Amino acid sequence: MTYLVTDNCIQCKYTDCVEVCPVDCFYEGPNFLAINPDECIDCGVCVPECPAEAIVAEEDLPKDQRVFWLDINQRLAEKWPNITKRKDALPDADTWKDKPNKIDLLKE
Ligand code: SF4
Ligand code: F3S
Repeated sequence: MTYLVTDNCIQCKYTDCVEVCPVDCFYEGPNFLAINPDECIDCGVCVPECPAEAIVAEEDLPKDQRVFWLDINQRLAEKWPNITKRKDALPDADTWKDKPNKIDLLKE
C-alpha cells in the first residue's frame, strides 16, 4: 500500500504536503508532485494538508486508476528531485483547483 498524488495536484502544486511527510518522499516536477511508493510509509498525515484533496490511498482508487497513478508516481519520483520545504503554489492554482481531468496538462 502507498499514498498517491493524483490529478487534482496538476497545475496547483500547493506543496503543503511536503512539510509534514516524516520520510520526505515527495518529488517535484513543473506542475505536479509525485510520491515515491517505495518510500511512503502509509502514515496518511499528508492527506488533510492538501487544499486540492489530491492525495489518496492507493486502495481507495478504482483498480484501473490505481495502476495508472501508481505508475505515474513511481516513474516521476524516480526522475524528479526531492522536495521537503513548502514553496508558493503555482500562480493560477486557485483557478485550477476544482477542475477535473487535468492529466493532459501534466508536464514531465
Ligand atoms: Fe509521506 Fe505519510 Fe504522505 Fe506517505 S502518507 S507521502 S509517508 S506523509
Ligand atoms: Fe499537490 Fe496538494 Fe501537495 S496540490 S503539491 S499534493 S499539497
